[in-house]
Amino acid sequence: VTRPRDGDLVAGLRRALDDAERRLEQEQAARQRAEAELRQVRTLETVGRLAAGVAHEINTPLQFAINSAEFLAESVSELLARAPDAGPDDAWLRENCASASEMLIEGLSRVAAIVRAMKDFTRTERATHEILDVNRIVESTLVVSAHEYRHVADVEVVLGAVPPVLGHPGELGQVLVNLIVNASHAIAGAPSGSRGRIAVRTAVDGDRVTISVSDTGGGIPEAIRDKVFDAFFTTKEVGRGTGQGLALSRAIVMDHHGGTLEFESTVGHGTTFVIKLPAAAAGTVTRAS
Ligand SMILES: Nc1ncnc2c1ncn2[C@@H]1O[C@H](COP(=O)(O)OP(=O)(O)OP(=O)(O)O)[C@@H](O)[C@H]1O
Ligand SMILES: [Mg+2]
Repeated sequence: VTRPRDGDLVAGLRRALDDAERRLEQEQAARQRAEAELRQVRTLETVGRLAAGVAHEINTPLQFAINSAEFLAESVSELLARAPDAGPDDAWLRENCASASEMLIEGLSRVAAIVRAMKDFTRTERATHEILDVNRIVESTLVVSAHEYRHVADVEVVLGAVPPVLGHPGELGQVLVNLIVNASHAIAGAPSGSRGRIAVRTAVDGDRVTISVSDTGGGIPEAIRDKVFDAFFTTKEVGRGTGQGLALSRAIVMDHHGGTLEFESTVGHGTTFVIKLPAAAAGTVTRAS
């Protein structure tokens, strides 16, 4: 004889079992995701270390290549000035020697700027904070992230005469890269589809140094404004974003640097993210420019 209650009991147990199974599946998926992310972080760390080594190795020969190029350029122009002019062929050579020297030095200097930025970026000593020139970090960041924004936006940089801050250059660089990549994505994804503008500014605000990154992208809709700093919150398709950029950035700015990271956004017009960092105590350092 089955009492009516037994059916309820069985159904209830089955539901509980289904629930447990679903939770297990979700947990497994979450674990797999975490493991994949961990692998990615490790790969990035390895790549970072390799890049640091390569940058370091390139730097020395590059420095003497630049010195030699400068010496050659000067010597050639001096020799040409001394030698008598022997006709039209000579004029052509003289002119092209001068412009080739200029291009050689210009090209090498650009490589040197990239190598310097890579060195700034891949510094791995994490423990200690050092006295930093925020403007230099901004410049390095723009060099290493150029491929992210070049195709979608023009960048305007306004660097104020800011005091130094105490911090970790690699971490702050990472925050700026996140903001610049987000700005580029916002511009690339905006309905207008036209080339946009990213403005990076540094300024003094009382006893704090501010770094702002503004974009002319589509803005952040009201409905998700309180979620953008959540870990794993993303509106981007798989492979484009993992939703960790802002969560990580805020942790770096607040927890490691005693600063704040906030934003203002107008849908259809754009977004400005503002980092505020406490200035290093006055009197302990003078700004190196
Ligand atoms: N400048 C911006 N303009 C418009 N929306 C933005 C901007 N910056 C962030 N967002 C929104 O906030 C979400 C979270 O940003 P976050 O940087 O944390 O993650 P993500 O860019 O999606 O992925 P990840 O940074 O991990 O590659 C984005 O998916 C996007 O919807
Ligand atoms: Mg991001």
